[in-house]
Amino acid sequence: MSGRVLVTGGAGFIGSHIAQAYLAEDWEVVVLDDLSRGKRHNVPSGAHFVQADIRSPEARQLLAGGGFTVLNHHAAQIDVRVSVDEPALDAAINVVGLVNLLDGAGAGGVRRVVFASSGGVVYGDPEVVPTPETAPKSPISPYGVSKLAGEYYLRALAALRGFEAVAMRYANVFGPRQDPKSEAGVVSIFVSRLLEDRPLTVFGNGLQTRDYVFVRDVARANVLASTAAVPAGSDIDDTAFNIATAVQTNVLELAEIVGRVMGRKPQIELAPARAGELFRSSLDVSKARRMLGWKPEVRFDDGLPELVDWFRKEGR
Ligand SMILES: NC(=O)c1ccc[n+]([C@@H]2O[C@H](COP(=O)([O-])OP(=O)(O)OC[C@H]3O[C@@H](n4cnc5c(N)ncnc54)[C@H](O)[C@@H]3O)[C@@H](O)[C@H]2O)c1
Repeated sequence: MSGRVLVTGGAGFIGSHIAQAYLAEDWEVVVLDDLSRGKRHNVPSGAHFVQADIRSPEARQLLAGGGFTVLNHHAAQIDVRVSVDEPALDAAINVVGLVNLLDGAGAGGVRRVVFASSGGVVYGDPEVVPTPETAPKSPISPYGVSKLAGEYYLRALAALRGFEAVAMRYANVFGPRQDPKSEAGVVSIFVSRLLEDRPLTVFGNGLQTRDYVFVRDVARANVLASTAAVPAGSDIDDTAFNIATAVQTNVLELAEIVGRVMGRKPQIELAPARAGELFRSSLDVSKARRMLGWKPEVRFDDGLPELVDWFRKEGR
């Protein structure tokens, strides 16, 4: 089944792949993005583009009158450091902006809202790794708090306004179009530095682990989450899905794999550990497997060459 979807943030990294995945499944796609970070040329041809801020009356009105089946919300302030320096700005975009859209979605009879949350931040430093959806939540940055607050608003307004809600909790997403200037994109940062023959900076001892999931796998999960049967949740975890690989890779291993795939020997530059950095992060994906019929299909070593090719052609 397909329908009409509004993809916010569809000129950005993950959102543009999601817009493409919906188009491939014959959805009618409208992208809304203010181009604060995204690029117009990332929006796939075949999608209609609206330039607007998610906090604006236009964005609310688009949803209230646009006849959308699904709102897929990926526009956000994504930088943890910005959230630390300007928490009010982070909350204005990630909380008030979301609520503005949910209000419009309710008025417009949108059937389902799919929201980009973050497993890397809502669980804080978890005791159990790979971490299941039901693990305690303890975000440590304002960005993490705004994502978790977003999940609570989603649950409350879904019940009050009568739409279905799904929260996607991503691990570290990587792939073509990820901005190497974004701190989340360590894979993109390593690739771009190696292409410029610069050393790779490793913070702390380099043994901290992350879980890297390829962006097209993430996009496929979003399309599945738009129509799969999901329970009406009384708790935010009922309607949340970890989207990850459950495989942990540490930063030194990451540097080695990126160097091997690019045929270059990386020089490592050690820097002091960063305050607040998680030591281990990896997510249990058995729920997405069971309820969405989704599993990650692209291995890290197979996704990486695509990212390297993209950088060589247009990323720099
Ligand atoms: N990249 C990751 O590893 C990761 C992990 C967990 C969660 N997420 C979430 O996934 C979503 C997409 O992240 P991304 O990595 O593709 O980032 P991105 O910066 O590439 O995409 C975000 C898009 O939102 C747009 N945007 C920002 N503020 C806006 C506003 N006020 N109004 C309209 N548009 C606005 C930007 O122009 C950009 O195109 C975000 O919600 C992010 O928090 C990403």
